[in-house]
Amino acid sequence: MQLQTVQVKPLSESGFFAEITGADLRRIDDEAQFEAIKAAHLAHGVIVVRDQKLTPKEQIAFSKRFGPLAIHVLEEQLLDGYPEILQVSNKTKDGRYVGLPDAGRFWHTDQSYEERPALGSLLYALEIPADGSGDTWFCDMAAAYKALSPAMKTRLDGLRGMHIYNHSHEEFSLSDDQSGHLPGYDHPLVRTHLETGRKALYLGGKLLKYVVGLEEAESDALLAELYAHCDDDAFIYRHKWHQGDLVFWDNRCTMHFAQPYDSQRYTRHMHRTTVMGDRPV
Ligand code: SIN
Repeated sequence: MQLQTVQVKPLSESGFFAEITGADLRRIDDEAQFEAIKAAHLAHGVIVVRDQKLTPKEQIAFSKRFGPLAIHVLEEQLLDGYPEILQVSNKTKDGRYVGLPDAGRFWHTDQSYEERPALGSLLYALEIPADGSGDTWFCDMAAAYKALSPAMKTRLDGLRGMHIYNHSHEEFSLSDDQSGHLPGYDHPLVRTHLETGRKALYLGGKLLKYVVGLEEAESDALLAELYAHCDDDAFIYRHKWHQGDLVFWDNRCTMHFAQPYDSQRYTRHMHRTTVMGDRPV
């Protein structure tokens, strides 16, 4: 059988965010395909692999090629029988959401509140809103770092931010037991990517509570300045989903932000796997 060749096409002028066609992620032992996808992920920060037809087992098997998978603390939103899959979904069963209906509705990077935050996340679109809403925005944090003034780069040198997961979702809050497992961790505001060697800003939106060692007002002002700097079309790519897209982002050098949609009218149903990462340095 003739295997299709993987094609990689950057979707933004800067080269951030690339589209991959001609791949079939069920071909788990196809080394050439795996190497092409891994290289594209490192080079472009975020990739969308189009036209996939994956069972939960196949998504897990592909994701595991990048490292051990994290099990999300929100156990009620995990897929039955597949704890590696976090459901991002507004579908309901027995009067309850099967997944997180409002995951990531602010700029953040996954599991930044853990000692070893996520290396990458793979979000697979099973159903998307019929009106095409519910985009996900991505920010290139390596480009954002590079564009900082030399004075700001010097100022950030050695500063650390405290990340804590203590916020509530639309329908529920963390239980005391879940919160008890998540004390929060401080990580550098600028991290160096261990595979590419590139430096990137490492922020966490609502989950980044303060800059360690600064007065509250100074910390708030510094973070506000950094978020304002990142809020620039030069660094942001807005992804419009198609059913069958698998988007794989590198949490070490990007932030993302899920946009709202009309959840009374439309279903948005996705499966996320999360690859564990290293302690940021
Ligand atoms: C997430 O932050 O993992 C969810 C992103 C999305 O639903 O677009």
